Amino acid sequence: MAVPSLKMNNGLEIPQVGLGLWQNKDKKDCINAVNWGLEAGYRHFDSAQAYENEQFLGQAVKASKIPRKDIFITTKIRTANMGNQLIETFDESLEKLQMDYVDLLLLHFPMTISRRISWPLMEEIYASGRAKTIGVSNYTITHLEELLAECKVKPAVNQVELHVFLQQPDLVDYCKQKGIVVEAYSPLAHAHNINDPVLADIAQKHGKTPAQIMIRWCVQIGTVPLPKSANKERIAQNIDVFDFELDQDDMKQIAGLESDMRTSWDPTHVE
Ligand code: A2P
Repeated sequence: MAVPSLKMNNGLEIPQVGLGLWQNKDKKDCINAVNWGLEAGYRHFDSAQAYENEQFLGQAVKASKIPRKDIFITTKIRTANMGNQLIETFDESLEKLQMDYVDLLLLHFPMTISRRISWPLMEEIYASGRAKTIGVSNYTITHLEELLAECKVKPAVNQVELHVFLQQPDLVDYCKQKGIVVEAYSPLAHAHNINDPVLADIAQKHGKTPAQIMIRWCVQIGTVPLPKSANKERIAQNIDVFDFELDQDDMKQIAGLESDMRTSWDPTHVE
């Protein structure tokens, strides 16, 4: 079944599930994951300078012979490269990817000392066409308000940790209002609570796995989940979420799973 896309505020489309490449640093594992992803129907891959696998993603995409325009590639500027070195290090990322543009370039984290001077550099890259879309990651409403007040080009995307145990409804609503697509990283909460009984019941009802329920929930609230897996079967399973729908009762039960559980960076106290 085809993966739907969402339209971003610059008119371009983003496939609604992407393969997360976080913690996939090993060359063979990363290339395998991308190949298995392509085979399973993923056309959206989420990398970052900090993941140290841009070169492997680039190699696999090139070898696949799938036209570049049919694949959506994201990378992110690592915190140490925000500020003066941003443009130079972005061009190094393009070299590693063996591409002349990325579909989406994100600032990886709202670093206090460098985020404001970094955005005009992101706008410069956007104007050059080397990034078709620009956005941010780990931004709270406060960080977004600051950026929206100062920017010339609005961020199109905010990639944050989001899953059934960390639902962030206020941030999701705010982004919707402002025309910013929310991407959900760690949509499986790192598989920490994958055996939760509420998820198990809903999964059984739909003949799906708990992971598929978690990913489907992200899709139904209008976000773009980026599940990470390095396993062929699980990679295929995680994109197979477009042949069923969670009903109101399921959504109500899932709302009750909220537990403010973060598995990664907490940006809420970053000034
Ligand atoms: P693996 O790479 O061995 O598949 P998140 O994307 O929320 O950060 O979660 C990633 C973690 O979840 C990884 O440890 C990954 O392990 C595991 N994982 C990925 N897909 C599934 C799945 N369908 N079922 C169970 N665990 C999964």
